[in-house]
Amino acid sequence: MTILELRDLHVTYKSDRGDVPAVRGVDLAIAAGETVGLAGESGCGKSTIAGAVLRLLPRDTIVGGQVLLNGDDVYELKPGRLRAVRWTAAAIVFQGALHSLNPVRRVGEQIEEAIVLHSDRGDAGTHAVRDRITGLLERVGLRPDLARSYPHQMSGGQRQRVLIALALACEPDLLIADEPTTALDVMVQAQVLELLAELQRDRGLALLFITHDLSVLSTTCDRLAVMYAGRVVEEGRTVDLLKTPQHPYTRALARAFPTIGDPRSRMNPSGLGGDPPDPTHLPSGCPFHPRCDMAIEACATADVLLRPIRPDRAAACVHVAVSA
Ligand SMILES: Nc1ncnc2c1ncn2[C@@H]1O[C@H](COP(=O)(O)OP(=O)(O)OP(=O)(O)O)[C@@H](O)[C@H]1O
Ligand SMILES: [Mg+2]
Repeated sequence: MTILELRDLHVTYKSDRGDVPAVRGVDLAIAAGETVGLAGESGCGKSTIAGAVLRLLPRDTIVGGQVLLNGDDVYELKPGRLRAVRWTAAAIVFQGALHSLNPVRRVGEQIEEAIVLHSDRGDAGTHAVRDRITGLLERVGLRPDLARSYPHQMSGGQRQRVLIALALACEPDLLIADEPTTALDVMVQAQVLELLAELQRDRGLALLFITHDLSVLSTTCDRLAVMYAGRVVEEGRTVDLLKTPQHPYTRALARAFPTIGDPRSRMNPSGLGGDPPDPTHLPSGCPFHPRCDMAIEACATADVLLRPIRPDRAAACVHVAVSA
């Protein structure tokens, strides 16, 4: 069953420097129990997609295309239904949210608030809700007595687990994890990844895993979508895509992570020269062509969209042989 479907999603921010076309036609589907990784360098539009799914972008942002969550068009929902969908259909662990917990309230109270406000699982202070808090903390690998702690008394890894518990408070079908391990040290990163994998397996949770770090995605995801300049430029099953990357950008990105499969590896920038383009000044043709070691004349004019190579595999490059 498809949980999330993006159909030709476009997102344009309004800013002082004019329109910023951050997402330019993305199609993506995630089934129940599936983990899909969204990869790409800083600024390619990953967090914008996360925000677009739950309508959490600035008010004046222009969103085109469709976002379907459990078949409902998120942009057609009435406010009450949208609030419910935000916690029960999909929840987000935000990028850089480690400091977003309320510093003056115990973490148990913060989880209680999420349960009471956003689900019909009971009133504050009841046994049912206390049991649920205990269950959530255990599920993310935290001792239940940590409910009485304040965020500053916890380590970064523990706080990240609390954020995951908060996201799970209303049993969403889809969890969007935006750079959930980036701020953590290497050992803790591995533990948080293991936790997300466990939750996904045990609960049949659909997981959209966002990170610039391909090596993290290589060990966790069923499928990968690689983004460049607001579009998906390659997608496929993780092993297949990483073994035989077809798009020169995916190849360069993979080279930048010399030890894919080893979560302790660090990005080696020598695999990728130059910077990604500013979305307000995109190059003509294929937006990757100025950095591409395979660019030919046609690449400066031909803007190739994603096209199927074989079942479960697509890439957006003039060099890619298209399936019959
Ligand atoms: N509120 C905003 N107003 C204007 N432009 C924005 C806004 N938020 C993001 N952008 C721009 O949109 C583009 C996509 O940003 P986004 O945060 O989605 O990238 P990202 O892939 O998540 O990057 P990172 O890996 O750094 O988190 C960038 O060029 C960014 O500067
Ligand atoms: Mg981001």
